[in-house]
Amino acid sequence: MAKPRSQFSCQSCGYASPKWLGRCPECGGWNTLVEEAVSIPGRSTALAGALTGEAPVSLADVPTDDAPRVKTGIGELDRVLGGGLVPGSLVLLGGDPGIGKSTLLLQALQGIAAPQHGKPRTVLYVSGEESVRQTALRAQRLGARAPSLLVLAETRLERILDEATRLAPVVLAVDSIQTVHSPGLESVPGSLGQVREAAGRLLSFAKERGVATVLVGHVTKEGGLAGPKTLEHVVDAVVHFEGEPGHPCRILRAAKNRFGSTNEVGVFEMHAEGLREVQNPSALFLAERPVGVPGSAVIASVEGSRPLLVEVQALVAAAAGMPRRAALGVDPNRVSLLLAVIERRAGIGMLGQDVFVNVAGGIRLSEPAADLGIVAAAASSATRRPIEGRTICFGEVGLAGEVRAVAQPELRLAEAAKLGFRRCVLPELNRARLIGTFDLELVGVRDVEAALAALLVAPVRR
Ligand code: TYD
Ligand code: MG
Repeated sequence: MAKPRSQFSCQSCGYASPKWLGRCPECGGWNTLVEEAVSIPGRSTALAGALTGEAPVSLADVPTDDAPRVKTGIGELDRVLGGGLVPGSLVLLGGDPGIGKSTLLLQALQGIAAPQHGKPRTVLYVSGEESVRQTALRAQRLGARAPSLLVLAETRLERILDEATRLAPVVLAVDSIQTVHSPGLESVPGSLGQVREAAGRLLSFAKERGVATVLVGHVTKEGGLAGPKTLEHVVDAVVHFEGEPGHPCRILRAAKNRFGSTNEVGVFEMHAEGLREVQNPSALFLAERPVGVPGSAVIASVEGSRPLLVEVQALVAAAAGMPRRAALGVDPNRVSLLLAVIERRAGIGMLGQDVFVNVAGGIRLSEPAADLGIVAAAASSATRRPIEGRTICFGEVGLAGEVRAVAQPELRLAEAAKLGFRRCVLPELNRARLIGTFDLELVGVRDVEAALAALLVAPVRR
């Protein structure tokens, strides 16, 4: 009898069964059985095979000079990757469906296939979602017409690996990992078992052949689809492409990077002819800012090495029933906490009010330096006192209402001055320790009360 090529193993306790079961008989876990290829003795598993097989060496003897990176020529993308793609690395490009992953990938592959300086290079784009013709139509619109940019419409893992081995491209891109399937497994494409098997085999391929491999995965920020989310541990780098539907702004962010910082962001705008890099994101995010209107504050944020000026908006209005709270672009829990601080430490009523907070431009703020901006916007809306148009702020806010110092104040101030801001309200400790001079009036504050006194101007007459 032929040996079974796959089995279902429980992800909690390791119990193995030849067929799928809804509940693990060993540990009682529901839905924990995932199909896996049975490893043949002598053939190491994908991950182990890719990394081991050598005798231990002294760390001191390992050459550490930077591997030459494959640059895509798209500055915003290269920076997020840590300077380009590393040969032999496996990168997961995640994002909501329709956000522009295929577009970004094709533009990047074009840049690699036909670099501005240097020889053409072979790259292979495997599409499991679109036909060759569909891909060609899109590529034409994007100007991705390099002769060495090859496309293959294929979903069978073995075929993809065969072609990639034969062509030995500089970069292999698989769009998307959810469409790839291995006939060795019974489960459907996109299932946890299939996605893992495909990623494991592609990882081996990348390491053995030294081919930079990019996998596209439809992953939501919340990790909506289980398959690709589990890949995050296997791959070398995870970059997420984000944006608000109906908004042209797109943010590329590294969630994990074995070859670079995870703080960098790349900013793009989606146009009819593809993605365009945004060199000056602060100007973009502030373009439509209402000046002199209550509820709008501009903060100086830093993402990685890059300062970003962003508008935080708040709307505080008497609730008709249960007060509603909603936050877009910032952590809702953080907003709740800050509203409580405003209520208690600044004496501005927030209980019984509907509060909506939004970060303009579809960007997401994760650093605590945004706290003061959220507090300022909410307090401004509640009191109907606007913030003067050329004033900016930043600072972390603690539960006692104290304004705490944040990292890289100089970078924030330089960006604010560059964009024409005249005044900045910042943590006193940051102000006292500033290195260098800035063409801005600096107001150092120790608590929320002082910050609001410095930020809010006289009430608007109605
Ligand atoms: P796409 O790259 O197909 O998204 P994903 O691969 O993440 O699913 O891009 C989807 C959207 O982008 C699509 O709705 C149309 C839009 N788009 C443009 O606006 N301009 C373009 O040049 C291209 C190619 C797409
Ligand atoms: Mg796509």
